[in-house]
Amino acid sequence: MTAKPVEALTEAEAAAELERLAAEIAEHDRAYHERDAPTVSDAEYDALRRRNEAIEARFPALVRADSPSKHVGGAPSGGFAKRRHRMPMLSLDNAFAAEEFVEFDARVRRFLGLSADVALDVVAEPKIDGLSINLTYEHGEFVHGATRGDGAEGEDVTANLRTIASVPRRLKGRAPDLIEIRGEVFMTKADFLAMNAAQEAAGQRLFANPRNAAAGSLRQLDPAITASRPLSLFAYAMGEASGKVADTHWDYLAQLRHWGFRVNELSALVHTEAEAEAFQARIGLERSGLAYDIDGVVYKINDLGLQRRLGFVGRAPRWAIAWKFPAEQAVTVLKDIRIQVGRTGALTPVADLEPVNVGGVLVEHATLHNEDEIARKDVRIGDTVVLQRAGDVIPQILRVIEDRRPADAVPFAFPDHCPVCGSLAVRTGGEVVRRCTGGLICTAQRVERLIHFVSRHAFDIDGLGEKTIREFFDEGWLHSPADLFRLPAREAEIAGREGWGAVSARNLARAIEARRTIPLARFIYALGIRRIGERNAQLLARHYVSYANFREQMLAATEIGSDARLALGSIIGIGPAIAEELADFFAEAHNRDILDDLTAEVRVEDDVPAAGAGAGALAGKTIVFTGTLERMSRPEAKARAEALGAKVTDSVSKKTDYVVVGADAGSKARKAAELGVATLTEDEWHALAGLE
Ligand code: IVH
Repeated sequence: MTAKPVEALTEAEAAAELERLAAEIAEHDRAYHERDAPTVSDAEYDALRRRNEAIEARFPALVRADSPSKHVGGAPSGGFAKRRHRMPMLSLDNAFAAEEFVEFDARVRRFLGLSADVALDVVAEPKIDGLSINLTYEHGEFVHGATRGDGAEGEDVTANLRTIASVPRRLKGRAPDLIEIRGEVFMTKADFLAMNAAQEAAGQRLFANPRNAAAGSLRQLDPAITASRPLSLFAYAMGEASGKVADTHWDYLAQLRHWGFRVNELSALVHTEAEAEAFQARIGLERSGLAYDIDGVVYKINDLGLQRRLGFVGRAPRWAIAWKFPAEQAVTVLKDIRIQVGRTGALTPVADLEPVNVGGVLVEHATLHNEDEIARKDVRIGDTVVLQRAGDVIPQILRVIEDRRPADAVPFAFPDHCPVCGSLAVRTGGEVVRRCTGGLICTAQRVERLIHFVSRHAFDIDGLGEKTIREFFDEGWLHSPADLFRLPAREAEIAGREGWGAVSARNLARAIEARRTIPLARFIYALGIRRIGERNAQLLARHYVSYANFREQMLAATEIGSDARLALGSIIGIGPAIAEELADFFAEAHNRDILDDLTAEVRVEDDVPAAGAGAGALAGKTIVFTGTLERMSRPEAKARAEALGAKVTDSVSKKTDYVVVGADAGSKARKAAELGVATLTEDEWHALAGLE
């Protein structure tokens, strides 16, 4: 991407970009933490965050309330209870080269006042690429376990952890009354490949790598599903403990083994920097042959007394460092470049590769991101390429090995028409992505939208995966989302199809029927409108409350400059760019037809605000707003009141129920006092409208 340098941005450009970055990073966070299905590499994600920070540093006044810089990683997702860790779960500082390890050793010695000739033992442990969890044992019994979450609190996944054989239910031998034990839940590479093959056969989504497969498996709401997934745990650290366990980390690991935990058998005690370097090199060589993914080695000062003295800086301990390996790479031949058309029409180039083993995982495809990326790397069909699997996402093509380029290798001509429907494909507004303009006449977009429509955070129809959608679409049964709800009428026909039977057809029909009622937020998200991810859908549902009101306000918002459009654009977190996407969607008659067809089949539930507030309190009331509101714009306040069934008028009379008095209010506030009409402060209005 050729983004404008931060120094060259005008204030308006910076504001627009911060808005875009907040939405994009939030979407990546959700993909990673809630769906365990990252859509960008770690490096790309970091680059987005760094750009956000750089823009904010230059324009501090533009820092948004929802800025990604205000929170790290993923807050616990809905579905699981939250659990606060007794001791925070921290992260580790990284080293990438021997010099940085030497610097770590020197830092520790400086801090402790130890000269270079004093022995300083260090425990070296493979850094397992899974997800960290915290297990609490009381009187030797496993009582609960939680994911790391944001470090302070995570998700309570106790029931799921109980299904993992290497999580002891009871500690063997004596243990402090209360003890927290930390470790990494992971899946082996072989189990990951087998599970993905089974997922593919069942038409279910695939996991990007073993780490995401482990996370996705542990974060299942149904523990029976977790139980069916091959998960394992290596224990490696302690949290809170009510009594002393050991004097050294090495002894602590031995104690973990006695209690019944699995401790990584490659762990070793190293005494000198040279030994550490030798260990790093040896494990680096063994890495691709290991059954599980590791991304480095963690070095921890062995003496626990010294660990205590060293303490923490920021979010990481001074007594440990993670020396990372370079990402695993391999060389292979690029056989072809295909264009995939996504739900919003984005044309994504995908490389078909000569299958190659990258660090134990067989890779056959890689994303090429977009046309600029292909041009920048000058990737041609027939080229030999260097591939990287950085423990994350779809592998990337790093570069071409030019001296192995065959004479007949041809540069790739990126299509300017959609390969599926033939419509023009364009790049607008400086975007790197080229999009098909075919909208719903494009079968690729229609299928992708249907797949999105039934996905987990949308209509969540059990047993209706990508494969089935494609099958029924090809059959001509699915023209629009409403057709999904007409599938139960075809139950007998489905039962007779190859690969189906009476039971599976019945189950599908039931699963569809079970989703005829849906909350407004999920409904809006399911529509698959560009930039309307789960969070924005929730904001919209919260704001418009009912589907009828949402539809009416969206139609009104198609007119630029209308009150409805201003109200939409001023919802905190929405903004003008997103408002425009929504307006564009509703401006299309065929989209409205699809919606009306759909709402004839399903019932959309109102987004009911918290108890005691909202709908009930305001229905049928007449409200006047006066003065300057600080927490929301006037159009937004008006729309919110109307959505809750109130009438908003301009002048105060005896019929007025409430006057909401903002800053510098004048005559209307006085009139309210004269007539004895109830007045509300802005905060009281928020509470009444269920906005707290
Ligand atoms: S020790 C306070 N040991 O790496 C330090 N972490 O980048 C606690 N990890 O969140 C962590 N293997 O998920 C430690 N042998 C190991 C590890 C390990 C993997 C993970 C862990 C942690 C992350 C930090």
